[in-house]
Amino acid sequence: MKVLSLIGARPQFIKEAILQEKLKENGIQEIVVHSGQHYDYNMSDVFFKVLKMREPDYNLNVGSGSHAVVTGKIMIAFEEVVVKEKPDIIVVYGDTNTTVAGALVGAKLKIPIAHVEAGIRQEPKDMPEEINRVLTDHVSTYLFCPSELAVENLEKENIKKEVYFVGDIMYDLFLKMKPYFDYSILRKYDLKENEYIVCTIHRDFNTDDPNKLKGILEGISYIADLIKIIFPVHPRTQKRIAEFGLESLLRNVIVTEPLDYLKMMGLLENSLMVITDSGGLQKEAYFSGKRAIVLMPDTGWKELIELGWNKVTSPDNLFSCYQSMVSEENRKPKNNVYGEGKAGEKIVNIIKGLIK
Ligand code: UD1
Repeated sequence: MKVLSLIGARPQFIKEAILQEKLKENGIQEIVVHSGQHYDYNMSDVFFKVLKMREPDYNLNVGSGSHAVVTGKIMIAFEEVVVKEKPDIIVVYGDTNTTVAGALVGAKLKIPIAHVEAGIRQEPKDMPEEINRVLTDHVSTYLFCPSELAVENLEKENIKKEVYFVGDIMYDLFLKMKPYFDYSILRKYDLKENEYIVCTIHRDFNTDDPNKLKGILEGISYIADLIKIIFPVHPRTQKRIAEFGLESLLRNVIVTEPLDYLKMMGLLENSLMVITDSGGLQKEAYFSGKRAIVLMPDTGWKELIELGWNKVTSPDNLFSCYQSMVSEENRKPKNNVYGEGKAGEKIVNIIKGLIK
């Protein structure tokens, strides 16, 4: 049996890290293809290094471009690899342009697609990640869902066959890597436990409109007058801040390059809370017992909102949301919302049973 995994962006490397290990343990051959969507050292290579992943077998080197250019280039180059390798199954992850490109190629070559992190839905429906999720789910053969809600979402769209609630593979990785979390950033910036906030922003609807981005940075700078904020900046956000001349709004904020997984988790574990528009970080905050302010009109991780753990807010209400969260009593997170950290094992067992 031959599995072909397609990855290309930061959140996919961390999911592949677990599946790669489980496939190997089960003696299943895996070919890994990196699309090249993320190519900076801090966005790509460093994840392979700290998570001790093997080098991809192919790198399609697509780089940056418009959505159509990136998706189209991946499709053209990936089709060649698939035709050559003739896998029994293609695995795609999450919601990026790499995901949808791989799913479309596989579906048209009539190769079964397994979608890891299937069934996540959120508003606005026109955001690139949401378009990628919906299209990918509808052409996938096996749908591996991280939450019960994801299963329900698929059911509403009449996707009922081969849908499995396996839990969140990111939780597997979190538990596995916990002993190796890296706390060096705390020393570097003199950050003390519960005395700082971690912030990340990169969604197009937050970064690409100058007024929106200005509003967010203003909110962050008001909060930074009260508590330290550390902001590892995504390349997209970096570019927009410079383009719109907003650097001065960050003068009281600790700005860093994007951080590797172990440094980010080390930072998170000791923080007071998180401000983010990243899907992954909202959950990782919860895994480490921290709460998150989610700068999005909606989130795919609604369980955490319904539990009152995370809060969704708009840039205008960022400061008041922070004030209300810090005034609330400490609480303990509910366990097992995203499974027990055995998603990788479950996925591999299902794949093994389905494809001889
Ligand atoms: C992508 C995914 C998003 C995921 C995120 C994690 C899509 C549509 N979005 O968003 O789901 O949560 O990755 O980071 O696929 N850039 C660099 N160096 C890099 C990578 C990107 O400079 O290594 C710049 C490029 O100029 C690019 C911009 O950042 O235009 C945005 O990158 P892109 O991959 O399109 O989307 P992300 O915002 O990273």
